[in-house]
Amino acid sequence: MKNILFINPKREQLDEMKEILEKNDLVGIRLILCDNVRSVPVILHNTEVNCVFYEMINSDFLKDLEYLRIVVHAIPKIVCGQKVGKKDLIDIINCGSIFFYLEKPFNEHDFITAINSAINFNRDVLDNYKKGQKKYIKKQIEKLNKVGIALSSEHNLEKLLEQIVLQALFLAQCDAGSIYIKEGNMLAFMVAQNNTLKKRYGEGYEEKYFKRFHFPISKDRISGYVAATGETLNIKDVYHIPSRREYTFTDDFDKRNHYVTKSMFAVPMKDSDNNILGVLQLINCLNEESRIIPFDKNLENLIQSLASQAAVAIRNAKLIKKVKDAHLDTILRLSVAAEFRDDNTSEHLRRMTTYSVIIAKNLGMSENEIELLEYAAPMHDIGKIGIPDSILFKPGSLTKNEWEMMKMHTIYGAQIMEGSDSEILKVSTVVALNHHERWNGKGYPNGLKQDRIPIFGQIVSIADVFDALISKRCYKEAYDLQEAVEEIKISNHTIFGPHIVGAFMKGLDEIIEVFNISQKNIFAKRQIVEGSAVDAQF
Ligand code: C2E
Ligand code: SIN
Ligand code: SIN
Ligand code: FE
Repeated sequence: MKNILFINPKREQLDEMKEILEKNDLVGIRLILCDNVRSVPVILHNTEVNCVFYEMINSDFLKDLEYLRIVVHAIPKIVCGQKVGKKDLIDIINCGSIFFYLEKPFNEHDFITAINSAINFNRDVLDNYKKGQKKYIKKQIEKLNKVGIALSSEHNLEKLLEQIVLQALFLAQCDAGSIYIKEGNMLAFMVAQNNTLKKRYGEGYEEKYFKRFHFPISKDRISGYVAATGETLNIKDVYHIPSRREYTFTDDFDKRNHYVTKSMFAVPMKDSDNNILGVLQLINCLNEESRIIPFDKNLENLIQSLASQAAVAIRNAKLIKKVKDAHLDTILRLSVAAEFRDDNTSEHLRRMTTYSVIIAKNLGMSENEIELLEYAAPMHDIGKIGIPDSILFKPGSLTKNEWEMMKMHTIYGAQIMEGSDSEILKVSTVVALNHHERWNGKGYPNGLKQDRIPIFGQIVSIADVFDALISKRCYKEAYDLQEAVEEIKISNHTIFGPHIVGAFMKGLDEIIEVFNISQKNIFAKRQIVEGSAVDAQF
């Protein structure tokens, strides 16, 4: 007798399916109906289930599937849904161990095929499935190569906008200028240059005197008016704006800095599709005797073209940010999929990546190197895809043979990612290969000593071990924080180099905060997952 657990379908649907199964000579099958994933553990406790059939009926399906991944790790799952978008579909597949996806309305043949292979599911099928996953991951990694990511784009954006403002001051012969960027319904003050204040307070005054601030876009402020309407304003004297105008001058800045704004030129920054991305504002045009005069009407074209340069820069930076976020997300998902593990794995990867970044900063690494590390760190254990589940999830300690196989995950990881031109994948390869080397040469796979161990590997090693110590694993309980820190200290000069332990200790407060925030997240998730169980209907 095979048991199939149906989650979510209606009673009538179940009768229909039963009919289809009988018509196709699939006998000896019991159908169990269950209207809530939360009841699954209770059913599993009492009944051996051979296959789970999940029908997506609400928008919470991803949460349900994550939950199923945890509670029915090794049972084949058939998921069925209707009009699922590409993005959701990828998310569903990424929920792990989805065996079959059926698009509704499905035909009898596909349904029977899915059920048949699911109930005859065995080791071979699983191995084939894993092979398929491996190919999928390799393909995704190849795709990562093809997109060139400009690193540190946000930092560069600010520099670029600063240059644009300086250029505008020079071309328009004026004293000051700023850029505001539109963020939703708000304007954010981005960069400013002010020659009078620079003379008064010296280089670097910007950091001190201009704080970033946001305000809602509304027509009663000059910058807000330009952002809302797309009009260019050329104002002779901001303190004498005719009262029939909708906008007035906000004099906070002048008051705070004992500055007097008089003439002002405010231009919308438009991209090629005429979207307004922000405002370029120039202040106090000066003549040869350094007296303030109105801005020349002939300057308008020139300043507008500078403004659109700024717009292009902003648009690019935003696109790059999106691409980067998508990449990080993909990398995290791939790494979780590769290790076939639960939700805790992604939290572990997030945390150890953040620790790695903190340590790299304390070692004085460049922004570029730190960013590469941020992408590479979560992939350090991707080679675990080549390790059988029976070893990966073994509750006790490993035999000598099993341990030899386990150690191969460093080499498998490097094999998956090596040979690419992508800087990220070069660093990832180094990290995967070297994250279990030890300072005293007693690590694996190559037994490298001290500075022979690439620095990226050394950093990820300490971050990984610290987080492994404070986490529960299938083979060990969690250490408490104090014990874990003690363990790191004891391992100075043996497992880790002194400079790395130093950088870790320097960042310890920050590291502990990352851990505490993550604990809160996990706790909140658990609250959602643990629902009350309902009896199954037969
Ligand atoms: P992992 O669980 O992510 O652990 C990463 C590293 O953290 C370990 O690398 C080890 O250096 C450190 N670590 C983890 N738990 C402890 C601990 O309780 N005490 C100390 N002192 N250090 C700890 P290692 O040893 O090279 O292991 C690599 C991977 O091999 C582990 O990754 C885990 O997946 C697996 N593994 C290691 N030992 C066992 C075991 O006894 N049983 C099973 N099933 N798997 C094991
Ligand atoms: C404005 O009213 O938008 C110009 C003054 C300021 O920088 O807030
Ligand atoms: C687990 O505890 O999730 C599996 C064992 C491991 O690889 O750490
Ligand atoms: Fe590892």
